[in-house]
Amino acid sequence: MTNKSITRRRFLESSGKATASLAAGAALLSVPQRARAQSAGDQLVLALIGAGGRGAAHAMGMAQLPGVEFKYVCDIWKDRGAGIMGDLAKIQKCAPQRISDMRVALDDKEVDAVVIATPEHWHALATVWACQAGKDVYVEKNPSNSIWEGRKMVEAARKYHRIVQVGFQNRSGPYAASAREYIAGGKLGDIVHVKVYNMLSGAKWEPKPDGEAPAGLDWDAWLGPAPEVSYNPGRHLDWHPWWDYKGGTLADDASHQLDLTRMALGDPPHPKSVLCIGGNYAFKSQRQVPEFQCITYDYGDFSMTCESGNATGYLSKFSGDVRYGDKWPHWPTAATRVEIYGTKALMYLGRHGCGWQVVAEGGRVIDQDKGYFPDKWHQPNFIDCLRSRKQPNSDIEQAHHSACLVHMANTSYRVGQKQLMFDGATEHFSNNDAANALLKPAYRNHYRIPEAV
Ligand SMILES: NC(=O)c1ccc[n+]([C@@H]2O[C@H](COP(=O)([O-])OP(=O)(O)OC[C@H]3O[C@@H](n4cnc5c(N)ncnc54)[C@H](O)[C@@H]3O)[C@@H](O)[C@H]2O)c1
Repeated sequence: MTNKSITRRRFLESSGKATASLAAGAALLSVPQRARAQSAGDQLVLALIGAGGRGAAHAMGMAQLPGVEFKYVCDIWKDRGAGIMGDLAKIQKCAPQRISDMRVALDDKEVDAVVIATPEHWHALATVWACQAGKDVYVEKNPSNSIWEGRKMVEAARKYHRIVQVGFQNRSGPYAASAREYIAGGKLGDIVHVKVYNMLSGAKWEPKPDGEAPAGLDWDAWLGPAPEVSYNPGRHLDWHPWWDYKGGTLADDASHQLDLTRMALGDPPHPKSVLCIGGNYAFKSQRQVPEFQCITYDYGDFSMTCESGNATGYLSKFSGDVRYGDKWPHWPTAATRVEIYGTKALMYLGRHGCGWQVVAEGGRVIDQDKGYFPDKWHQPNFIDCLRSRKQPNSDIEQAHHSACLVHMANTSYRVGQKQLMFDGATEHFSNNDAANALLKPAYRNHYRIPEAV
């Protein structure tokens, strides 16, 4: 264990105490007053858009911070949101209002910020609308569903001077920052190759027949910017393997590892090219997004691969005692590990707060820094930035760059598993018209993001 690691642990402990005391302070709050926050002492008024598991977790986490109130819980499905409505009413002593159209919250001058935790195909439009309405935004990962719309999110954030924090929470983990410092300090030598793993378990995916939309669900609003189709439970309740809504496990878990890797490497600009090979090898599913993808990115100075899929259940995500405790993982069977190969040493870097270890010849661990699951820093960082107006840890610009790695790879797969050359300055492909046709989805009329946001 190095001195740096010990220092880092002390920092973690003191940060943990700070967060705990913030939470304790929240319990003493009287009924919130609804006014635009100007300083650290002022009340912040938020709205939750998308009251599923992740949205509810954020609302609970943020509402326990001092001076934060959720005025609205918005969901287009009446079945969703009852639990978090009740929990918020207890924490705030002031019940939030249940709405089904996010524009009610966006039109409300009292609302400072929105938390967007809908499926991915809504992220960009909701973010652009929110910025246009003068609201700050916390938007979940993967921030966009296409390269073009991700750029529009950046433009909207900058044009309207909005805080836009993305749910790539690893960026708030102190161990991610120490990994970045370690690599920038040259201790791995020159970086020559990076391997990003996302080797998860899964099962055969079966298509489901169309059916009646459940009572209380506004299916047209759920589709939003995506093409109009009949209600299908396989789309509604399992939107991940459809190009129109997400982009598979690459846009899901792998987007976290890709973003963490970019951060550790000092946020390199877009790669020069991408090649994605893949298929429905294991289960022979009829999924649009394949069960397995093997991707190579060319960064000029180094290469990066990403292996992502759903058929290797003997590998596993990091367990609780690794995420929240002192235990190190067994790296070869860690499903969401990153390997960064320098000319001097190899860094294993883990998501979920796992930490990093550097090994040299014979597997000797020569440096390490243990982590902790980073939500506890990421949510307060957003709230702090609403008041300080500083850039958040996962600002939309770098998050967009990370999301582009997902979109580039999926595009390569979709145009026939072709190597695509990417012009980072214009965010266009320079050797494939079919790939450029996938840069921007064909939005429905009333759900369009304008060219000039
Ligand atoms: N950062 C992380 O670690 C992490 C973890 C889990 C999920 N996520 C992300 O969070 C998002 C939500 O995931 P989830 O697991 O909570 O999904 P979920 O299906 O449980 O919840 C999504 C909710 O959004 C609602 N919704 C859809 N369109 C809407 C609209 N236009 N307006 C209002 N509500 C709308 C749905 O009815 C649903 O209740 C996804 O983007 C997912 O990738 C991130």
